[in-house]
Amino acid sequence: MEHEAARPQVVRGLEKVIAAETNLSFVDGEKGELFYRGYNLHELAGRTSFEEAVHLLWYGDLPTRAQLDAFRTSLVSEMRLPTQVADMLKLAPPNANPMVVLRTAVSALGMFDPDGGSNLPEANDRKARRLLAQTSTIIAALHRIHMKQPILSPDPRTTFAANFFYTFHGRMPDELEHKAVDTVLMLHCDHGLAASTFACRVCASTLAGMHSSLASALATLKGPLHGGANTKAMEMLEEIEGPAQVEEYIDGMLADGKRVMGFGHRVYKTEDPRTRHLRELSSKLCEQAGLSHLHDISEHIERVVHERKGMFPNVDFYSATTQAALGIPKAFYTTVFAASRTAGWIAHIREQYADNRLIRPTSKYTGGFDGKWRPIDQRG
Ligand SMILES: CC(C)(COP(=O)(O)OP(=O)(O)OC[C@H]1O[C@@H](n2cnc3c(N)ncnc32)[C@H](O)[C@@H]1OP(=O)(O)O)[C@@H](O)C(=O)NCCC(=O)NCCS
Repeated sequence: MEHEAARPQVVRGLEKVIAAETNLSFVDGEKGELFYRGYNLHELAGRTSFEEAVHLLWYGDLPTRAQLDAFRTSLVSEMRLPTQVADMLKLAPPNANPMVVLRTAVSALGMFDPDGGSNLPEANDRKARRLLAQTSTIIAALHRIHMKQPILSPDPRTTFAANFFYTFHGRMPDELEHKAVDTVLMLHCDHGLAASTFACRVCASTLAGMHSSLASALATLKGPLHGGANTKAMEMLEEIEGPAQVEEYIDGMLADGKRVMGFGHRVYKTEDPRTRHLRELSSKLCEQAGLSHLHDISEHIERVVHERKGMFPNVDFYSATTQAALGIPKAFYTTVFAASRTAGWIAHIREQYADNRLIRPTSKYTGGFDGKWRPIDQRG
């Protein structure tokens, strides 16, 4: 018997399905362009700090000098973690995936947030600043704990990027490192309806709070087909001895039906616009850090994968070597992506709340209809 409900067609992976309206960012997959609220990413990259981009996403335009100073100060003032959450980080097993710890800690922050029970816009603005600031502190503090070093307080006189680097490494970045961290954070801020952003909006659409929605987003970003790809890309680079081994390695992977991590994209049919900026940073930073061999291997991989599959690197590929040259251990790469994307997720949560309807799609049922109940001792 075929039932009416079983007939509709499924769009696998929701490809090209328009599931939300947003004025935050636009990904033009054909032209390889990305816009934050009408600004082309290339217009912003290298000239716009992370805080300016966050202000653009959250409040609708780039800040004036006075607005930027006030916004920066308010973010730094919110970086402190509740003692209980800092203690919780110390209890995490040292080999726990930092994304697992981050997801757990952001969820735990919800128990201690003074605005945790409120979904009013003013409370959400306070939570937004606190969550963006505290997320970066969690990541830096976890690294300090791994290094058996004390957790550091941020320096109120400097930028979000410099504070992230300082609280992570225990020293201020030099000019190139500062520019790189700031640009990496700026480039990862928002990206249309990425899987984690969709998960975040689904959760927000139930009117669950900001902490819950961010925990959903973090859980989704972690996967190797999404934000976890940067760590996987570095694992691959570490297996390749030098540029001469690249062809054999990639051909072997493709022959085994494996995916080259950091390549391919659901929306981009050409180069991801973020790649250009990350490639450039990776080249300069790797040279400064004595890791040029890693950048050279990456460029060879890019050429071979394009020749074999016509595919381009995505944001995660050169993010791996960029972060390696910034001294960030590979287990933390996805958390850096998360530190930035938290800004975009928060903007999407607030956009969802502002015009909410529960997100509740439907499924094509492929089971049967003829089930007959039997007493338990007559089954099997
Ligand atoms: C990003 C990604 C998940 C998009 O997936 P998608 O839009 O669902 O594309 P599909 O999985 O349907 O792949 C389409 C084809 O390209 C191939 N392909 C896609 N990405 C590939 C990759 N990185 N390496 C090798 N082959 C790849 C698939 O095997 C498939 O080939 P087939 O049609 O012969 O079976 C996919 O490109 C991928 O797995 N990339 C590696 C992980 C990664 O870098 N993720 C970060 C994304 S920003």
